[in-house]
Amino acid sequence: MKNSFLTIDDLQVKGKKVLVRVDINSPIDPVTKKITDDERLQLHTGTTIKELSEMGARVIVISHQGRPGDSDFISLAEHAEYMSRQLGKPVKFVDEIFSSHVKEEINKLKDGEVMLLENVRFYAEESIERPADALTKVHLVRSLASYVDCFVNDAFATIHRSQPSLVGFGELLPTAAGRVIELELKALNGVLQAGRKPAVFVLGGAKVDDSIKAIGKLLANGTADTILTGGLLANALLVAKGYDVGPKTMEVLKGKGLDKFLPLAKEVLKEYDSQIETPVDVAIMDATRKDIHVSELPNPYPIADIGRETVGRYCKILEQAKTVVLNSPLGIYENKEYAYGTMRVLNCVASLKAYKVVGGGHIDDVVNSLGLRDKFNHVSSGGRAILYYLSKEKLPVVQMLERAKDKWGGKAKQLADF
Ligand code: 3PG
Repeated sequence: MKNSFLTIDDLQVKGKKVLVRVDINSPIDPVTKKITDDERLQLHTGTTIKELSEMGARVIVISHQGRPGDSDFISLAEHAEYMSRQLGKPVKFVDEIFSSHVKEEINKLKDGEVMLLENVRFYAEESIERPADALTKVHLVRSLASYVDCFVNDAFATIHRSQPSLVGFGELLPTAAGRVIELELKALNGVLQAGRKPAVFVLGGAKVDDSIKAIGKLLANGTADTILTGGLLANALLVAKGYDVGPKTMEVLKGKGLDKFLPLAKEVLKEYDSQIETPVDVAIMDATRKDIHVSELPNPYPIADIGRETVGRYCKILEQAKTVVLNSPLGIYENKEYAYGTMRVLNCVASLKAYKVVGGGHIDDVVNSLGLRDKFNHVSSGGRAILYYLSKEKLPVVQMLERAKDKWGGKAKQLADF
């Protein structure tokens, strides 16, 4: 399978109004609502946005932050401040997504200036998932497309979504991939091309629905040989295996849509039981950490980490791995006592000679705090996007970029070759 896209080198951007979709969705403190980790902001600002600005483009940036209803679903005003600091020049924040006011502000931009629009998911239309041709017709896309000259998609972490601002512009505007997409796909193609076996995937985090779908695909096409699980994902799989995880953990799982993904979890476990590991013990969040065997469940307190015995088992399995993909934390890592599983497994992986990729759920925070960054072949800005890409599914943003290359021509650079 071959993918080739236009890159920003193929667009004549000087003096042009360039709309750039990035993914600067960042971890937010639930109480202060402040950004707690600016990794994605640094990545996008320091590459595509800076380059386009230096090329003399008039840069209009759009992104989402959080999901409607979640505590991190906030305005992008503070994101603009981070971007200004990093670029060393003002990034104007406009607290709307499209309107005659936005159009006026875009028309005032001078060459090299950068502007950030409001959280694109504040507009409900953005959250619909439909095929790209339907999304070219939505109001958000039609309006924004009429204000600008070309489009750059650099939102790697959302490459698996078919939402208006991600796939709607390719038919209407000359469209290219940004540097983050370029960099990420090159690194992930390294995993696919090398094909070193066994490939062990360590999956955690809270986006259970996406993870379960990805597990099925990764095992079905042989990209992964073994999957080790932690986080809310492991708790959901324990439920699918018939364990009663206790009222607190059940409440969280129900909030994440347990009823919808439980049948698929059962199906995946039935089909690939011998390749999917779930914890044998878990850490309970009592007054202090307490490790209990899963046979001792249910417990009135929430499960907050994988247990110590599980960590030992996982590290033993990992010793054999030639490829490791570690995706999202295995417990509530923000709390020191429950960061144990994530930190120990990260340390085990870091010491291996395998090809190692880590990303998702802001695990880069832990990687940085442990000083392990240079022990990995790639620290990705993506979460579930990594899994979907490695499962070799044709992803909506990849397909849109391929179609855009055919439609808008140019000297296409070979980005992905797998
Ligand atoms: C992520 O953090 O994984 C991306 O920003 C995608 O977010 P989403 O799952 O809410 O679309």
